[in-house]
Amino acid sequence: MEKCVVIYKSRTGFTEKYANWIAEELDCDTYPLENVIHIELSEYDLIIFGSGVRGPKMSGINFVDKTLAAFPGKKLIIFATGATPVHESAAIDRVRTMNVPKNSGIPFFYFQSGFNYEKMRGLDKLIMTMARGIMRRMKEKDGMQNSMVAAMKNSYDHSSRESIEPLVSYIRSL
Ligand SMILES: Cc1cc2nc3c(=O)[nH]c(=O)nc-3n(C[C@H](O)[C@H](O)[C@H](O)COP(=O)(O)O)c2cc1C
Repeated sequence: MEKCVVIYKSRTGFTEKYANWIAEELDCDTYPLENVIHIELSEYDLIIFGSGVRGPKMSGINFVDKTLAAFPGKKLIIFATGATPVHESAAIDRVRTMNVPKNSGIPFFYFQSGFNYEKMRGLDKLIMTMARGIMRRMKEKDGMQNSMVAAMKNSYDHSSRESIEPLVSYIRSL
């Protein structure tokens, strides 16, 4: 198989967990984005970049543009982790179109995670409290809205190792 590396940006640990699962499954190296300056990216045939969604931009996504500019034609794959359930296809499509560079053809995968308030930084906690307040005030009758507000109240983790299977199969098929 090709030599691959997983580069991830993780603020509360969800993407790091997925990065480690992917690296283990595919026998790739893995590094946090913060350490990328110490890595010889040209050594790798395939670069997988993953990070968490922050309404709806992915953290550190400009790494992809920089890599495309530095290594034209390099094989790249992007994965995002987020609290949005996988069946919310419109929201996930939005994450894809907001983050995958246009006409790049870079494959994109989405994995559900959750919220980790214990590991969240102060500003992020504040943003989440405000977001919950706004959603509550929207007073949508629709049950979906209410269940989302309830789900956002406490930390939870819906990540699962099985969900990386489509990405792993895709890479094995290259
Ligand atoms: C400030 C903030 C904004 C977020 N916005 C979104 C969002 O728009 N959509 C989503 O699905 N998840 C959102 N989340 C949840 C994160 O994407 C999720 O926890 C992600 O897995 C975090 O990854 P990390 O722990 O690797 O940083 C948000 C979390 C925070 C703290």
